[in-house]
Amino acid sequence: MAALNSAVALLLVTLGFSAIEADIVFPSQAKLTDNASYDYIIVGGGTCGCVIARRLVDSNYTVLVLESGDDPSANSMLPGLFYLLPGTSIDYDYRSTFDDYAAGAQGNFTRLTAGNALGGSSVLNHHLSIRPIPQDYDDIASLTGDDGWSYDNMLPYFKKTETVKDEEIASTYSEYHGDSGPVGITRELHDDDVAYYLKALAEVGNPTVEDLNGPVSVGYMQPLLNIASGIRQTPAYVYLNDIKDNPNLHVSKNTKVSKINFENSTAVSVEAIYKDTTYTFRANKEIIVSAGVFNTPQILQLSGVGSTDVLDSLNVDQVADLPVGDNLRIPPTVIVVQKTKKHILPSIPNLVHAFVPFSIPFPLLLGTTPINKSSEIPDYQTYNLMLPHDTPYLTLACTFVYGYSLDVCLRWQTQIASRDAVYSVVVNLDAVSTGTVRANSTDINDAPLITTGFYSESEDLERAVDILLDLLAVEDSATLKDLGAAVVGVDFSECADKEAGSREFWKCYVLHRTIAGFLYSGTCPMQTCVDSELKLLGLNKIRVADASVFPKVLHGALNAAVLSLGEKAADLILQDAAN
Ligand SMILES: Cc1cc2nc3c(=O)[nH]c(=O)nc-3n(C[C@H](O)[C@H](O)[C@H](O)COP(=O)(O)OP(=O)(O)OC[C@H]3O[C@@H](n4cnc5c(N)ncnc54)[C@H](O)[C@@H]3O)c2cc1C
Ligand SMILES: *[C@@H]1O[C@H](CO)[C@@H](O)[C@H](O)[C@H]1NC(C)=O
Ligand SMILES: *[C@@H]1O[C@H](CO)[C@@H](O)[C@H](O)[C@H]1NC(C)=O
Ligand SMILES: *[C@@H]1O[C@H](CO)[C@@H](O)[C@H](O)[C@H]1NC(C)=O
Ligand SMILES: *[C@@H]1O[C@H](CO)[C@@H](O)[C@H](O)[C@H]1NC(C)=O
Ligand SMILES: *[C@@H]1O[C@H](CO)[C@@H](O)[C@H](O)[C@H]1NC(C)=O
Ligand SMILES: *[C@@H]1O[C@H](CO)[C@@H](O)[C@H](O)[C@H]1NC(C)=O
Repeated sequence: MAALNSAVALLLVTLGFSAIEADIVFPSQAKLTDNASYDYIIVGGGTCGCVIARRLVDSNYTVLVLESGDDPSANSMLPGLFYLLPGTSIDYDYRSTFDDYAAGAQGNFTRLTAGNALGGSSVLNHHLSIRPIPQDYDDIASLTGDDGWSYDNMLPYFKKTETVKDEEIASTYSEYHGDSGPVGITRELHDDDVAYYLKALAEVGNPTVEDLNGPVSVGYMQPLLNIASGIRQTPAYVYLNDIKDNPNLHVSKNTKVSKINFENSTAVSVEAIYKDTTYTFRANKEIIVSAGVFNTPQILQLSGVGSTDVLDSLNVDQVADLPVGDNLRIPPTVIVVQKTKKHILPSIPNLVHAFVPFSIPFPLLLGTTPINKSSEIPDYQTYNLMLPHDTPYLTLACTFVYGYSLDVCLRWQTQIASRDAVYSVVVNLDAVSTGTVRANSTDINDAPLITTGFYSESEDLERAVDILLDLLAVEDSATLKDLGAAVVGVDFSECADKEAGSREFWKCYVLHRTIAGFLYSGTCPMQTCVDSELKLLGLNKIRVADASVFPKVLHGALNAAVLSLGEKAADLILQDAAN
């Protein structure tokens, strides 16, 4: 009954019945008392923060979650409206520092969408559930010398997060999947719409596989999605709804943590601003920093945790000398568009499907792909939006989500007229360039300075071209040749002096079409910033738990990786509490 009530309430909320009903779905605003104590304080109620909060409250500890954003907005709960979210109040909408080399797609900066709401970036992400490959975890285990991070030891945490509702995958690959975790996972199958493209891919060495989160790590499939009963599975909902009335859970929204206070290298309290008042909250046991790849380093730097030069420039006294905010890993992402099947008449089913908000408005194909077709380690990941000729989504996704200029998007849109299109978002998983995050001032409300570092290592540009050529080899398949398929949007002035199809042309294309692709990590990595138990090196009673801790680019997307990180972090914290 409770579940039914909350589903109904959620529906009301999503239909716009706003704030009062939101309390039925999400935890209500905590009553704040200055200098109050809690067992645990979680800085940032994002993807990882919500998971940890849930598990600590399940163990009867008092938990204060301090979240800068509000409850997820009503439209964010409807999967089909994801394209409306960037740039709204739930998005920090950060921009990279000036870059006139590789940030041609949006002018001289790169848009860095990041969630500012209870649930964090899971509130506006693209729903794809694709795990890193086993090798990623075995690498972390050997890097840290802690076998707890090996794939075999992490798999139970992935399973713990999810309930896979796709019958085929749940029954065939049950050893890889959970059947009773909070996050409902489904697939939206459009076999008829994607068959021709899967066939074309297979003709050039890219197999169709059943489950990239299961026994194989390379190939193409219709992806698993963090969507169930037509609702986005943000941890703000699926992890916190059940415990929203638990007296041990205290969630303060619209609350910005500005500083963590240390006494003799031990974290003791946090300062947070709510409605223009600064409060201090004390942690009896631990403080967990889960403010995401951009704000975790900002908060730590403002608290004196950072390298000497960074803290000197901010005039902040040093508590610990750690490389916080270095090693920002943003896999550079490039979009290419192909026109495929021709059409004469509009398709009513396509149009109807495009406007149902409970599902993704077009078919999707996910690929994780090696350039060497015998390899089992993917070099790139690609999300292919299979756009039927009548949907408006090319321009909507292109402008609102991926942030290209209207000029670029309209070039693509007009050149696919009367054709189906494949809009391929291509993520380079092997990039070695790193960027940085630096607090710009001691005011927590100032956006941090974020430098992407895209292509600062020239091998990344060469690799980007190798990847695009591998992806576009699909045009040589008999299937696409028969359709007269072609890549569109390659005739623009900035690269007009390059020979069509040459490596020089594709390098130019890459430099003018690179975007961030949203899989940011690495700004407080294991080994140099935190230990393998996620404790900040040299400090006590403080851990970092969010995408900042991954030391290298993972060969997957990050949502599933962060959810399982949250489960693992909660176990580490509870183990210490028990000792
Ligand atoms: C547009 C987009 C699309 C994506 N698509 C996918 C996808 O399809 N599949 C996938 O697997 N991954 C995807 N990702 C990546 C994935 O969603 C993120 O990597 C993951 O959610 C990050 O989790 P986190 O816990 O590290 O940070 P977040 O979830 O971002 O949480 C950080 C939280 O800290 C809060 N915070 C920040 N500063 C403060 C402060 N000073 N005081 C208090 N609170 C603060 C923030 O408001 C936020 O709630 C996408 C990401 C984006 C941005
Ligand atoms: C805050 O609380 C701590 C311990 O709970 C106590 O020692 C301290 O005196 C309090 N400070 C103020 C200003 O009330
Ligand atoms: C938490 O408290 C409840 C109610 O007192 C109790 O039933 C439960 O066993 C406790 N859980 C743990 C993990 O201690
Ligand atoms: C980027 O900056 C360069 C150098 O200032 C300038 O020439 C160029 O016009 C800028 N590009 C855009 C799109 O603003
Ligand atoms: C911190 O260390 C100093 C010097 O060693 C000591 O005098 C002080 O009591 C310590 N404070 C706490 C809170 O442990
Ligand atoms: C491709 O991968 C296979 C399997 O890992 C390996 O044996 C082979 O040497 C690789 N080929 C090239 C050209 O790298
Ligand atoms: C950083 O601070 C400087 C000086 O206050 C300001 O001019 C600049 O706009 C700030 N940058 C960002 C990204 O906010």
